[in-house]
Amino acid sequence: MFGKLKSLFSTDVGIDLGTANTLVYVKDRGIVLREPSVVAIQAGSKRVLAVGEEAKRMLGVTPANIVASRPMKSGVIADFAITEAMIRYFLNKVAPKRLWSKYFKPRMVIAVPSGITEVEKRAVQDAAEHAGAGKVFLIEEPMAAAIGVGLPVSEPAGSMIVDIGGGTCEVAIISLAGIVHSYSARQAGGDAMDKCVMDYVKRVYNLLIGERMAERIKIEIGSAYPVGEEKSMEIKGRDIVAGLPKTLTITSEEVRDALKEPVSQIVDAVRSTLDKCEPELAADLVDRGLVLSGGSSQLRGLDKLLAAQTALPVTLADDPLSAVAEGTGVVMNELDFLARHERAS
Ligand SMILES: Nc1ncnc2c1ncn2[C@@H]1O[C@H](COP(=O)(O)OP(=O)(O)OP(=O)(O)O)[C@@H](O)[C@H]1O
Ligand SMILES: [Mg+2]
Repeated sequence: MFGKLKSLFSTDVGIDLGTANTLVYVKDRGIVLREPSVVAIQAGSKRVLAVGEEAKRMLGVTPANIVASRPMKSGVIADFAITEAMIRYFLNKVAPKRLWSKYFKPRMVIAVPSGITEVEKRAVQDAAEHAGAGKVFLIEEPMAAAIGVGLPVSEPAGSMIVDIGGGTCEVAIISLAGIVHSYSARQAGGDAMDKCVMDYVKRVYNLLIGERMAERIKIEIGSAYPVGEEKSMEIKGRDIVAGLPKTLTITSEEVRDALKEPVSQIVDAVRSTLDKCEPELAADLVDRGLVLSGGSSQLRGLDKLLAAQTALPVTLADDPLSAVAEGTGVVMNELDFLARHERAS
């Protein structure tokens, strides 16, 4: 009886706790929040000044007394206290504290990278509980992405998903609702790409540029494979030698060259997962191909490059940034079943 009453009042929530972006899915409402995983804090006191979009605008332009930081690195929690503050802030934003929140805590489905350790899992769970969650269910990010894009994961046949976010590239082959093979490349996400662009510009032009500039260059003229016409872009930074602000032009060929390393790591991750695949599953993949999700899967030409390198059909998800959060939403509808199952066992 109490259980029924409780489920009437509490909201189930799904979270895609990403290195670059956090998305929150609320049962029966869908995705209600998408914000950068960035927190601005007062140096020394750890007081939170801004979270999400507002904090991201502060990255790289803060005075000495403000630190804008990204508490998630390579898909896992690098700063526990700040991650917790961030989850709490986002939860309050989607469901302002109610009188009964002490008694009716939301159940949460949180997507975590497939390669994370028990200690890292515990850290996510604790951060969510401290931030106000009731029961916490963790789901592996590639599984959530596969469910989110609508792959038939519970069928006795192979499906393949490649989710490339800010911090990780997760590859998984799924059959009968389980991950048969997976690979998590922690240095092959969008952050690594941005870093390569920064390094390139520094090495070739002696120009220092910020993270946000590097990301803009990647998104506007970056590519993994020659597709369409080549472009160029004006970029601004600080000249190392003269120590002064400087503007110069960079071409899409140069950016493709700068991105070679992380892009080849993505290709390697996909190929080595396919290498381990049983013949039956491999045969399924020849027909069904692989699906790309995650923000970095939108890098121009990446789908073409992977198709060329694997000889498999490659499809880009309709909404690559939402796949994981949508997946947590689908899983949420099974929570009552999971809870009953847990009580029975
Ligand atoms: N058009 C684009 N081309 C290339 N990269 C892009 C594009 N749009 C977004 N990105 C990159 O996608 C990344 C964010 O993707 P996403 O939100 O899926 O990551 P995340 O889920 O937060 O990270 P992770 O899953 O690794 O923890 C950023 O690095 C961003 O620069
Ligand atoms: Mg992600």
